[in-house]
Amino acid sequence: MRCSFCEKEAVLRLRHANLRLCPEHVVARVEKEAQKAIHEFRMFAPEEKILVAVSGGKDSLGLWHILTKLGYKADGLYIDLGISEYSRRSREFCQEFARNHGLNLQVLSLQEELGAGLDEIAKALRGEPCAHCGAIKRYLMNRAAWEGGYAALATGHNLDDEAATLLGNTLRWDLEYLARQYPVLPAGPKLVRKVKPLIYVSEREMVAYCLIEGIRYIYEECPHSVGARSIFLKDILNRLEDEAPSTKITFLKSFLRVHHKLPAPKEAELRECPSCGMPTAAEGLCRFCRIKERMAQRAPA
Ligand code: AMP
Ligand code: FES
Ligand code: ZN
Ligand code: ZN
Repeated sequence: MRCSFCEKEAVLRLRHANLRLCPEHVVARVEKEAQKAIHEFRMFAPEEKILVAVSGGKDSLGLWHILTKLGYKADGLYIDLGISEYSRRSREFCQEFARNHGLNLQVLSLQEELGAGLDEIAKALRGEPCAHCGAIKRYLMNRAAWEGGYAALATGHNLDDEAATLLGNTLRWDLEYLARQYPVLPAGPKLVRKVKPLIYVSEREMVAYCLIEGIRYIYEECPHSVGARSIFLKDILNRLEDEAPSTKITFLKSFLRVHHKLPAPKEAELRECPSCGMPTAAEGLCRFCRIKERMAQRAPA
């Protein structure tokens, strides 16, 4: 199988783009698609300082690598959730990547921030770990980006992630969530712009990209993601894609074309949390500070 662009042997076939790619052209395509999304959605300019949230997985570490290669000034942020072996290993992959590439990585840990890891927090608050995890991560990512003076916070969400989220939102016709699903979320008071430069890059391309570029990452998923609905939705989309290549990219791009027709999401009135000063829709303490307070109350004096 020959590369669509040169004489070399292809290592990746992309039916949805009708391409066969050699290693060099896999790298070129992934970087081009990321750059295309950055320009198309005006995610950030070359002189702006970006914070990349890295989980230790292929997408976010790959994204950090891509942004650096494209000449952007990007630092990393890792949030140690304290999920035993999984967090320890994913943290090591992020630190190794930063060290090898001479990049700045900031590490925040729930143990230090809240006095306990995610499993302990979930037990104390009697909820599913994932329900608290999303809110805690969003808070810490935004706070770190705000305090560090970054112009944008980038996450590694890829085409497969976005198409699965879109399918979930569409199945419920959740107009609020659909309106909020966009590759760029604008900045607000103490809220940093959120961007997803990998929306056009599939999971398979990111696996190949990391392998070719020598990026080591954690293969395992978070232990709490077992049985998650997002995995089920991705599986369904993969089956559709097998039957009709380009289902995912067409689904996502067609949505983005009509996105402006959706009613604007309700703007929650934001106040400053009396404890941390970050924006919150809640009366009184923000959700993060409430969790912190609960965890402090249960700690032995
Ligand atoms: P997930 O919600 O786990 O699918 O992750 C989506 C994106 O959030 C990843 O691509 C990362 O950019 C970011 N992210 C996830 N977990 C962490 C973490 N522990 N620390 C920093 N960023 C993270
Ligand atoms: Fe949040 Fe697993 S990464 S619960
Ligand atoms: Zn080639
Ligand atoms: Zn607060």
